[in-house]
Amino acid sequence: MARDKAEPAIVRLDQVDSTQTVAFALAERGATDRTVVVADQQAAGRGRRGRVWQAPARTSLLASILVRSGLPQALLATLSPTTAVATAEALRRVAPLEPRLKWPNDVLVGGRKIAGILLESRAVASSEPVLVIGVGINLGQREFPPELAGRATSVALETGHAVDRETMLAALLEEFDAWRARLEGEGFGPVRERWKSLSDTIGRHVTVDGVSGTATDLDGDGALLIDVGDGVRRVIAGEITTDETTGEAHAARR
Ligand code: BTN
Repeated sequence: MARDKAEPAIVRLDQVDSTQTVAFALAERGATDRTVVVADQQAAGRGRRGRVWQAPARTSLLASILVRSGLPQALLATLSPTTAVATAEALRRVAPLEPRLKWPNDVLVGGRKIAGILLESRAVASSEPVLVIGVGINLGQREFPPELAGRATSVALETGHAVDRETMLAALLEEFDAWRARLEGEGFGPVRERWKSLSDTIGRHVTVDGVSGTATDLDGDGALLIDVGDGVRRVIAGEITTDETTGEAHAARR
């Protein structure tokens, strides 16, 4: 008789340093693919590029998804835009909002960041390297500290009501599972098309780590293609520091 497939684990914790750290520790102990760690609060939440991710207790969805993927090495990084698409789709469904994506994977509403994604990879004992994809979604914040004011927003600020964290988590995991399955089954094409249709970056004048020009496309591995006038440059990682809406340099986000 066929056995029901076990439900992937969701580990719910009160306070942690970082859900990323907990997920990697579970991976060391053999946790299975798609184990999820969520916490009410993080003492040392991690953002991209070594930054800190801050959120007052119980205001945000703070989740890390452990991924043991059979994707070819060259496609593993596309799990990051895949998660950005899933996060935007989840917010569209439950908030509801019309989020846009800023390369590489910021989720924005009205030009302000509502969610961030952090993909980390580590070698763990006796297995292939594992990935942990962290997602932070601002839900209940009514205000942000001065250094983030004007650059960050939340579901509560955008809609007047907060979505509860369990509802957001369920929608996020449903979208993540669906978009990951498309990525693993059909390659990056469908995700890439959806990413581009949600993009706030393509068509804009951008500067990424010293490369300035018009963002024209997302490459087949998630790299940003920038038309610099005398050619097209591929940028595989980095951060957009200028755009034509402001014409001025942004301080690093978070
Ligand atoms: C970014 O800088 O935009 C990425 C932020 C990612 C934050 C999330 S919150 C849950 C998970 N745990 C962390 O320490 N970071 C990620």
